[in-house]
Amino acid sequence: MLSIKSIVHGTCLDLSSEGKGIVKINNDVIFCDGLFIGEEADIEIEYIRSKVYYGKIKKLYKLSKDRIQPLCKICTACGGCQFQQLAYPAQLEFKRNRVYQAFKKIAHLDNIIVDNTVGMDSPYYYRNKVQMPLGLDKNNKVIYGMYRNKTHKLIQVDNCNIANNKTEKIFKTIAILMDSFHILPYDEDKRSGIIRHVLIKTSNCYDEIMVVFVVNVENFKSQRNFINELLKQCPEITTIVENINSRDTNVILGEKEKILYGKGYIKDEICDLKFKISASSFFQVNPLQTEKLYNIAINKLNLNKEETLLDAYSGVGTIGLIASKYCKNVISVELNKSAHIDGIKNAKENNINNVYFVNNDASEYLYKDSNQIDALIMDPPRKGSNEKFLQAIIDKKIKKIVYISCNPETLARDVNYLKTYYDILSITPVDMFPMTSHVETIVGLILKN
Ligand SMILES: C[S@@+](CC[C@H](N)C(=O)[O-])C[C@H]1O[C@@H](n2cnc3c(N)ncnc32)[C@H](O)[C@@H]1O
Repeated sequence: MLSIKSIVHGTCLDLSSEGKGIVKINNDVIFCDGLFIGEEADIEIEYIRSKVYYGKIKKLYKLSKDRIQPLCKICTACGGCQFQQLAYPAQLEFKRNRVYQAFKKIAHLDNIIVDNTVGMDSPYYYRNKVQMPLGLDKNNKVIYGMYRNKTHKLIQVDNCNIANNKTEKIFKTIAILMDSFHILPYDEDKRSGIIRHVLIKTSNCYDEIMVVFVVNVENFKSQRNFINELLKQCPEITTIVENINSRDTNVILGEKEKILYGKGYIKDEICDLKFKISASSFFQVNPLQTEKLYNIAINKLNLNKEETLLDAYSGVGTIGLIASKYCKNVISVELNKSAHIDGIKNAKENNINNVYFVNNDASEYLYKDSNQIDALIMDPPRKGSNEKFLQAIIDKKIKKIVYISCNPETLARDVNYLKTYYDILSITPVDMFPMTSHVETIVGLILKN
C-alpha cells in the first residue's frame, strides 16, 4: 500500500483520457502528470482518490522522443495545459487514439476508422476567450492566473501561450489598477472582496475586445474611476460588462449583467458571416479551427435545397446560419436566452431569412416537434445529449446526423444508443485545444435501410 509522499519508480505504459501518464506497480495504478509513454521516472505520490494514486515526477530517467522543451515556464505547476512538453504531432495522435478508444470501449465498436486529427499550423496563442480568477500574493498585491493542478491555489500567469496575445497587457493593467484603487479580489474562504474573475473575449476579424468583471457585489466603490482609468490605459477595449455572481459556487458567471461601457458584445466573422457574441453566449474558442470544424461538419451532411436541417444546441446560431445556403431551411434550437437572441440578430445582420430560432430545451423541442426534419447537426455541451433527445431522433427516423462533441466519452455513449438504427460514416477529430488533452470530434451518421 502506497502512502502520500512515498516515492515509487516506474515506467509509463499509456496515457489516460485526461493526458496523465499511467504507471502500474504490482496491482496499484498511478496517474502522473507530464509523464509520457515509455518514460521512466521516480514519482512522488501526492493524493489518492478511489484507490487510484496521483503523483508528480521527482526524477526522470528515460525520456520519450516526443518530449520537447516547453515554451511555458509554469506548465508543470499550472492546471491549464497537459501537453506543453509533448511534440505537436504526438498530441494529435493522442487525440485520434483517445477518440478511437472511446468508441471501442464505450460504443463497443471494434472495426472503426478514426481519421487523423485535423491540427493547426501554429498551435499557440489561439484562445479568443480567457478567464482568470484573481487573488493576492504574499505581499498582498493582486495576482491573476490559473489554479495549481487539483487545488484552489492560484499561480500567477504572466504570459499564457495559448491565450490571444492581446489579453496579456489588459490582465496586467487590471491587476495594477486594482492595487491602486484598493479593489480587493474575492476570497472564497472568507467570502469577502469584490472581483472574482476577469473574462476577456477577443475578436479574430475585428479590432474588438470585451472585458467582463465577474463581481461579488454590484457597483463597487470607485468603479467609474477604475473603469475610466482602465480605458485610458487600454483603449483597445471596446466594451466592458459587469456580471454579478454573489453565490457560493464554482460556476463562474452569475445571471445578472450590466453594461459598463460600449455595446455589451463583440462581433466576429466565421466562414464569411458576422456573429455577435455577448458575455454569456457560447462561441467556439479557437477561431481558425472553428472554420475547419464547421466546414467539415457541413460537408459531411451533404445537404440539398429540398431539406430541412435542425441545428440543435445551436449557441448563437453559427452552424445553422452557415449551412442555411445549402438547404431549404434551418431550425435552430438553443436553451440560453441571450445566445438565442444573438442568433436572431445574427440572421438579420447577415440577411438570412430561412433560419427559425427556438429558445427551448433541445429534447423538449424535438420530442414535441411535428416538422419534417431531414438532417440534424447536434453540438451539445460536455455532458452530451440525453435519452429523450436520442430516442426522438430514432422515432422521427431523421436520415442524416452530424454529431459534434468536445467529449469523446459522452459522444461514444450517445452513438452507442443510436448504433442499432444508424451507420457511422466517418469520425474526424479536430484539434480545437492544442497543448491540452481536449479534443473536438465530428461524427457522420446515416439511417440504416
Ligand atoms: C458546445 S455549445 C455549441 C454551440 C454552437 N453549436 C457553436 O458551435 O457555437 C453547446 C450549446 O448548447 C446549449 N445548451 C445546453 N443545454 C441545452 C439544452 N438542453 N437544449 C438546448 N441547448 C442547450 C448551450 O447553451 C450552448 O450554447
